[in-house]
Amino acid sequence: MRKKVIAGNWKMHMDLNESIGLISGIKNGMTNVNSKVILCPPYTSLETASTLLKGTEIGLGAQNIHFEDTGAFTGEVSAKMIKSVGCQYVILGHSERRAIFNESDEMINKKIKKALSEDLNVIFCIGETLEQRESNVTKDVVGKQIKLGLEGIAPEQMKNIIIAYEPVWAIGTGKTASPEQAQEVHLFIRELVGQLYNNEISDELIIQYGGSVKPANASELLSQNDIDGALVGGACLEAESFLAIIKAV
Ligand code: PGA
Repeated sequence: MRKKVIAGNWKMHMDLNESIGLISGIKNGMTNVNSKVILCPPYTSLETASTLLKGTEIGLGAQNIHFEDTGAFTGEVSAKMIKSVGCQYVILGHSERRAIFNESDEMINKKIKKALSEDLNVIFCIGETLEQRESNVTKDVVGKQIKLGLEGIAPEQMKNIIIAYEPVWAIGTGKTASPEQAQEVHLFIRELVGQLYNNEISDELIIQYGGSVKPANASELLSQNDIDGALVGGACLEAESFLAIIKAV
């Protein structure tokens, strides 16, 4: 049985004081939890978050890294740097990084390799736009993102990868993929990873759904066979709603 993994992507929200408040709210509510929980605050809150989460089971992740270790890359942050403040995870390939910051599949692949080389776990995001879904190319798009993103990733490294299927049209829009729509793509992803690697790897692969996951729709989504967790944006910014999603498992 795959353990469900619920991650909160805070995006560009929460200054340091707000972060401290949210983390303490989440920590206080972490009773009777059956899933793995990961928080991904902005860079400026990571070190404090790491201190506050010591001794808990809650994981800590950043929302991006650069693919080089060091260098003249003003404004960028490396895998080593986020590790040094206590991160175990990093979100890569988020659709906002792809669309707003022009990240290509090739760049995302380099970042994934760098993160893995630093023993970080990766939440690798993929997903189609509304236009692509309506033109019936969802599986082509998602398949290509997976093949290019995972190019050169060795089988033994796959245990450190979580795939997050996030239809772009469902992110921050209040529109969620139906459980059936999500399940169909999740199964496709699992089968594709099975072909690219093997069945053991695809059986163990955690595939999260993301895109307007809320307390009201979480349990139905999370009860689908191939939905192993959620990557939550808006609803993770309040302890109460994030905890309700965590407890929907
Ligand atoms: P949302 O964001 O839950 O606000 O739709 C999800 C995400 O972008 O990871």
